[in-house]
Amino acid sequence: MEFYEVINKRRSIRQFENREIPKEVLERILDAGLKAPSSNHQRRWELVTLTDKAIIMDLAKFIRPYPCRIVEPKTPQQEMFKIAYPRQRSMVEEAACVILPFFKQKYPLSEDKNGYGLMDYGASWALVENMLLAATAEGLGSVVHIPVKKEPEQIREFLKVPDSWCLPALVVLGYPAKDALLPSQVKATVDNKVHWNKW
Ligand SMILES: Cc1cc2nc3c(=O)[nH]c(=O)nc-3n(C[C@H](O)[C@H](O)[C@H](O)COP(=O)(O)O)c2cc1C
Repeated sequence: MEFYEVINKRRSIRQFENREIPKEVLERILDAGLKAPSSNHQRRWELVTLTDKAIIMDLAKFIRPYPCRIVEPKTPQQEMFKIAYPRQRSMVEEAACVILPFFKQKYPLSEDKNGYGLMDYGASWALVENMLLAATAEGLGSVVHIPVKKEPEQIREFLKVPDSWCLPALVVLGYPAKDALLPSQVKATVDNKVHWNKW
């Protein structure tokens, strides 16, 4: 798929077909992630990649769907909340693969004096985005779930990940269900978001 087609096609997909992803496809996606830029050229990343359905189902037990009272959404954000909130667990259950990209913080956020703490976190998102785009290029659907409340701790314990590793997001992959729901896009265009040469 051509690069800008990939950019335009990538959407957050939260409903998947029950279909495995070939290992070579996953290896290309993981490789794309690992080629992302990183602060201080550290690349202190370790990616736990789950393809075993029983392990994915066990992981999903830690993810709680968010409550959502929106019945008739009035904005693209509300449309997204209505689709996304109840599917936080089911999208993991339906996934063929969940990638957990752990990174190490060199400068802890809690002792952050000069903003350096954000660098390792920022780099982890470059890795995530590369994988989302690679997944799109491979004809897959993808979405991220941000681990909240007790989820980071529970997931680390479940996967026996040492304490010093942080998890920015779960990268959830699968072949998109034919009727997968999509909210309208918030329009961000060169015309309405870009300032040339001055604000
Ligand atoms: C930092 C970040 C956090 C997100 N967290 C979640 C999440 O926890 N669960 C989820 O279903 N989607 C999550 N998303 C996906 C957004 O909801 C989605 O990107 C947005 O609604 C725009 O839709 P699109 O990805 O289809 O363009 C997250 C995206 C980003 C960039």
